[in-house]
Amino acid sequence: MRKPIVVGNWKMHKTVEESVELVEELKPLVAEIGDVEIGVCPPFTSLSEVSRVLRGSNINLGAQDMYWEPQGAYTGEISAGMLLSVGCRYVIVGHSERRTYFGETDEWVNRKVRAALEAGLVPIMCVGETLEQRQKGITQEVVDRQVTEGLRGLSPEQVAGMVIAYEPVWAIGTGLTAEPEQAQEVQAFIRARIRQLFGEEAADSVRIQYGGSIKPENAREIFLQPDVDGGLVGGASLEADSFARIVRAAM
Ligand code: PGA
Repeated sequence: MRKPIVVGNWKMHKTVEESVELVEELKPLVAEIGDVEIGVCPPFTSLSEVSRVLRGSNINLGAQDMYWEPQGAYTGEISAGMLLSVGCRYVIVGHSERRTYFGETDEWVNRKVRAALEAGLVPIMCVGETLEQRQKGITQEVVDRQVTEGLRGLSPEQVAGMVIAYEPVWAIGTGLTAEPEQAQEVQAFIRARIRQLFGEEAADSVRIQYGGSIKPENAREIFLQPDVDGGLVGGASLEADSFARIVRAAM
């Protein structure tokens, strides 16, 4: 059975001080939870301090993005090795905000996913359709392309060990959550595609999260869907109590 994974994506929120405060508060609230994998992805500036606070806890650290080159003249960028050096386990790749505001393409997402895996990080690769694409009836086509291109060149073992986050763009930060059945439908489709592309074992092992306006009130219903293996949580992860309640909903 797949272990559910709930990860907080803090986006561009929290100073170092605020970050430390949040994880200090979160740690005891989830301390005894063993059957859900838990992670937080603070902004780059907070990673090392948060890492220090999380040492020895059951909360893992992740980053929100990275660049695929190991080092070099790439002003403003951060490599996988740098993320590992501050104790990161995960890196979010291809979030819709990166695709929309920063022009990330499927090819870039693929390079980042490959570099992350080669370095030993677990990529959380985000896919999802816009409202316009859903209304046009091309959700599966869009998600299929993102999955196929994003995972190009990977081995079945690499796919098995990573995380995919299905985040319908129209549900992110809008308060509109996908109906549990809508999430299930797309996530079952993603798993079926992975089965075709990478085989049975990769499809059975890869964890597929749902993301988009998850709250303590709607989390359980979504997490109960058979192809939903936890969630990627934005807004509701900025507060310890609501994030802890969402983690609990995945138990
Ligand atoms: P949200 O964001 O929970 O605030 O909708 C989710 C995400 O973008 O990962």
